[in-house]
Amino acid sequence: MLVKKIKLENFRNYEGLELEFSPEINYIYGNNGQGKTNIVEAVYMFASLKSHRVNHDFEMIKDGCEFARLEMDFENKDRDFNASIVLSKNQNRKIRVNDIKTARNSDLIGKFNAVLFSPEDFSVIKEGPSERRRFTDIAISQIKPNYFNCLLKYKEIIKQKNLILKDTSGFSAMLDIYNENLAEVAADIIYYRYKFYKFISENVGLLHKQVTLTKDKFEIIYEPCVPYTDRKNVKKEILKKLERIREKEMLERTSIFGPHREDVSFFINGKKIKEYASQGQQRTAILILKLAQAEYIKEKVGEYPVLLLDDILSELDADRRRYFLSEIRNKQVIITSTDKGSFGRRKDTKLIHIDNAKVSDI
Ligand SMILES: Nc1ncnc2c1ncn2[C@@H]1O[C@H](COP(=O)(O)OP(=O)(O)OP(=O)(O)O)[C@@H](O)[C@H]1O
Ligand SMILES: [Mg+2]
Repeated sequence: MLVKKIKLENFRNYEGLELEFSPEINYIYGNNGQGKTNIVEAVYMFASLKSHRVNHDFEMIKDGCEFARLEMDFENKDRDFNASIVLSKNQNRKIRVNDIKTARNSDLIGKFNAVLFSPEDFSVIKEGPSERRRFTDIAISQIKPNYFNCLLKYKEIIKQKNLILKDTSGFSAMLDIYNENLAEVAADIIYYRYKFYKFISENVGLLHKQVTLTKDKFEIIYEPCVPYTDRKNVKKEILKKLERIREKEMLERTSIFGPHREDVSFFINGKKIKEYASQGQQRTAILILKLAQAEYIKEKVGEYPVLLLDDILSELDADRRRYFLSEIRNKQVIITSTDKGSFGRRKDTKLIHIDNAKVSDI
């Protein structure tokens, strides 16, 4: 996977930007607030169709403008792609791939893969289950467009079901229909999540030993809403459970059971990381989760994703930084930092200086 070039129009603080990337290390540096993370965010949009910082498109459109346009040239297994995303204040997004308008947003999903390491990742451990589900959903959607479509379907079913639960007139039969549909899609979602976390949990233990050089046992455990066996059985179990909590849902007037309530737990030596581990250990845990995600993409897609490292190297101790830098060899990376550091001397590095939304190559 290679990002070759990005073009931004009215995106964040960029009125117009054209930037070419090297296939090895791209090191973006500049003072605070100049637009480094904005470039990373734009590249990441092509992988996840989501910003890692905001939930609404209008927040990414340059102040005072009506739309933003992002265009990217990239290579996926030696095939060249050109894609563009237009964000509007009042209209839906418009996405084109190789100059063809996509019927659905998810048509871009899976074409470009990137893994982002950013200071915001901390929320995956620190915050509540919804942040972990968000990570999970973006990670799987990125390479499984069908999972993305399942999530959309599921969200719609929950919305409709909640409407029914709020308005109780003659709803019994309707509730059965929604529960049946819900269980069907939920079983698919759980299947994808189970497979993803099976791979992740098999990989993080060893990665943790390599990064930290300790014997600490690091585990990530997915907690599905019913135990995973196979899809048919999962659907059956969900339906059974929904039947059991029917009264409760009617009383609470909202849907209280399903993949939208699931969680993932992080443990170090059997203790919950959130409550037990130090800041640095938590940061390392996230880093390892992301490295495992990159391995997952490599396994499924056959190529490493582009790695986006937004301001994270300075937070690592020397050993961890060294390990991390050895890990990123032979992969394309985009790194941001406020100072040039030792990268200014490396032959495999393209230095990009950003000053007030303008680039000066050095
Ligand atoms: N919608 C927008 N319109 C115009 N400018 C914006 C918009 N959103 C953000 N900005 C500007 O973009 C700049 C921040 O860019 P960015 O987050 O990329 O900075 P950075 O170089 O990564 O800084 P740091 O080193 O502090 O992380 C800020 O000056 C902010 O005001
Ligand atoms: Mg930044």
